[in-house]
Amino acid sequence: MQINLSEGDSIMAHTRKKIAVIGAGFVGSTTAHWAAQKELGDVVLLDINEGSAIGKSLDLAQAASIEMFDTKIKGTSNYADIKDADVVIVTAGMPRKPGMSRDELIGINAKIVKDVCAGIKANAPNSIVIVVCNPMDVMALYAKQQLGFPRERVLGMGGCLDSARFRTFIAEELNVSYKDVTGVVVGNHGDAMVPLVRTASVGSVPLIDLLPADKIAAIVQRTKSAGAEIGGHLKTGSAYYAPSRGAVEMAEAILKDQKRVLPVAVELKGEFGVNDGMMVGVMCVIGGNGLEKIIDYKFNADEKAEFEKSVNAVRALCEGLKTVQ
Ligand code: LAC
Repeated sequence: MQINLSEGDSIMAHTRKKIAVIGAGFVGSTTAHWAAQKELGDVVLLDINEGSAIGKSLDLAQAASIEMFDTKIKGTSNYADIKDADVVIVTAGMPRKPGMSRDELIGINAKIVKDVCAGIKANAPNSIVIVVCNPMDVMALYAKQQLGFPRERVLGMGGCLDSARFRTFIAEELNVSYKDVTGVVVGNHGDAMVPLVRTASVGSVPLIDLLPADKIAAIVQRTKSAGAEIGGHLKTGSAYYAPSRGAVEMAEAILKDQKRVLPVAVELKGEFGVNDGMMVGVMCVIGGNGLEKIIDYKFNADEKAEFEKSVNAVRALCEGLKTVQ
């Protein structure tokens, strides 16, 4: 019997999950790398610089027969190629350059996000969108407005990254396995983020019983400035391994319907007293439908005050959206 390969191809196209990564810079290409390696589905890497998207996709695909992942990877500049993607991860955007104000960055990146959202809406209208580009909370909020998707399907990646950094510094301070550390960071992805010390534990033992307050305060501070610390060393760029891995943690939870409890920026509709549509990181159940539930974490007075400051930081940055055409 002759095997009809092209028919096999089309069967695969219908049964495999599809992940579109918008932006083939460091964050985007590394996102494609993690997603392919974890065999989450076929990956489309899209960039307006087509050569970069195609070149990096070919390169990644050629690692498959060494690493042994069965994933197709396609580079493109054509939004038609993201057709019916299950998950779209938006990394496109400019990093902040020296001398550039946050408002200027918001203007530039909002224009990029607007075009990206038009492409997503036209080609993957049922997708779940994960926004990674900065300033993340504001760009996620803007993307949600542009897409018109329900809040369950527009999620911001910041908390997974910030929490990973928080856990890393705890594990390193105590010289224990990263696997045995928990700890969550909520709030915005910026200086006013809120590492929740009460959620941190090591082998289920509360962190506050294991470290003195000054050491914990240092870990909290380093978590808040971890992105800037890396940027300071790189000088011309910013972090990408952990940011992309955070996005893929969310994508995996969606694609495998894992019901993971992850800190994710979502539009708040009255939760935690936020009624004006701000998007900010809170603990969520993430599964096949995207946002499935917001965990009703009971802030103590200090945490609540910090969380409110964090939401206000997003509100202030949103002013910069008013000038965007
Ligand atoms: C960071 C920046 C890139 O936290 O958002 O690394």
